[in-house]
Amino acid sequence: MEIKTAEFVISNTDYRKCPEGVKPEYAFIGRSNVGKSSLINMLTKRKGLAMTSQTPGKTLLINHFLINREWYIVDLPGYGYARRGKEDRERLRRIIEDYVLERQQLTCLFVLLDCRHTPQQIDLEFMEWLGESGIPFAIVFTKTDKLSRNCLSENIKTYKTKLLETWEELPPIFLTSAEKREGRDELLAYIEEINRSLATHGNE
Ligand code: GTP
Ligand code: MG
Repeated sequence: MEIKTAEFVISNTDYRKCPEGVKPEYAFIGRSNVGKSSLINMLTKRKGLAMTSQTPGKTLLINHFLINREWYIVDLPGYGYARRGKEDRERLRRIIEDYVLERQQLTCLFVLLDCRHTPQQIDLEFMEWLGESGIPFAIVFTKTDKLSRNCLSENIKTYKTKLLETWEELPPIFLTSAEKREGRDELLAYIEEINRSLATHGNE
């Protein structure tokens, strides 16, 4: 899919104030610093569209970006981190949870995982919660440029094995590098396919 236009629309702390209408949206979630905002910039080929930082906790709001005037990319705050401690973390958790559970337009949630790490409890629990809540999601491994090919495939294999301890089936899995622009075509093709099926069958 070609991205012709990508426009920042609005930032919110409350899902009820997010854009109205029925355009499908795809949100990016994961631990702070995993590379959500960088991935969005890579997908849209707009370097400064979503704000990135080396310091975790950069994105603190629900950010809507309108793509091709047809669908939204949503940048979310990271989970599991808050500079100012427990209260902040709790506040962010609520923003994320409410958005994920209540936002009707949310079509697929991309859960980002740093490919360098072994399976972390916080991510596994988050995905379990998504499963229990009936939220469709896909996994996106980030920062693949930081590992050798062998190491990468070893880590992905370990992750899949871990997931299969609790999941009957694996979700779609994508490998990406914002740095090397890898995985872009695959992710956009996946989104395009869903958009097309929604246009044909409607948002039932
Ligand atoms: P929060 O908004 O704080 O939750 O973080 P985020 O998940 O949006 O991460 P962000 O995109 O801001 O990236 C965090 C850091 O990781 C930045 O220093 C990025 O340059 C770096 N980074 C992101 N993606 C990649 C990648 O694919 N490869 C490499 N090498 N670095 C990356
Ligand atoms: Mg961010």
